[in-house]
Amino acid sequence: MSSSLLDVSNEDVRRIQSLAPEPPRVGIVLGSGLSALADAVDDAIEIPYPELASYPGVGEVVGHAGRLLVGTVSDVPVVLFSGRVHQYQGASALEAAFPARMAAALGCEVLLLTNAAGAVVPRLATGDIMLITDHMNLMGTNPLTGWPGPEGGNPFVPMSDAYDRDLQDLARAVATSQDVALQEGVYAGLLGPCYETPAEVAMLRTLGADVVGMSTVPEVIAARALGLRVMGLSLVTNAAAGEDLSHDEVLEAGKRASVVLTRLVLGILERL
Ligand code: HPA
Repeated sequence: MSSSLLDVSNEDVRRIQSLAPEPPRVGIVLGSGLSALADAVDDAIEIPYPELASYPGVGEVVGHAGRLLVGTVSDVPVVLFSGRVHQYQGASALEAAFPARMAAALGCEVLLLTNAAGAVVPRLATGDIMLITDHMNLMGTNPLTGWPGPEGGNPFVPMSDAYDRDLQDLARAVATSQDVALQEGVYAGLLGPCYETPAEVAMLRTLGADVVGMSTVPEVIAARALGLRVMGLSLVTNAAAGEDLSHDEVLEAGKRASVVLTRLVLGILERL
């Protein structure tokens, strides 16, 4: 049982801190096929995930290149996680929350998460960018299980404002200024790795989900427990349970829309 959510290797933290031009303020997690933002990091120092003792070493899936970068984006010192650890790879929820735990250990105040997701509702189309306003944890696990809570506290972390309202307003304002039609909605996190059946997608729609994916939820929960403010952006890469749905389709859609998503994130960072 883990007593500390922060439990990342001190050696990793010291190494990253010594390489970073300034202490990172914002952690950014890039989802499947969304690695273009990594090219926007100025003075980037890169560490492949396997070089980090804290990194949960589970098999990589094609398109999930794993590396951590420190540097600045729009003059904001950031730590960028290009690729993440998924529970469908066999990682625990705590391990899947690695970027949130590392960002907190490095002293970040904000965690900005991106992901690829399938549309559950007909109003969302492939290529849309959706601001996550809330989530449903349908993964059957939680990164806080066994966690006794912070010093003298309890593990019952409030989640009513998991996605920071001021950051949501900022994302809306930047999207408007860039003429980006920013969608909004609820992200349902499922364990995967198989995609959903049509019956499951109908269930998710009935429950009130707008998109479905296999990440983000453990990171958000851990981030909130560690006091970080969270923003989440989903890139709609397909219709959930769409015909001939393939991982390649998800990666391809990610590549195409990542230009818009990258510009949006740069604009958000400029105004943080
Ligand atoms: N389902 C679950 N996860 C996903 C999907 C999907 O349709 N698309 C991208 N990630």
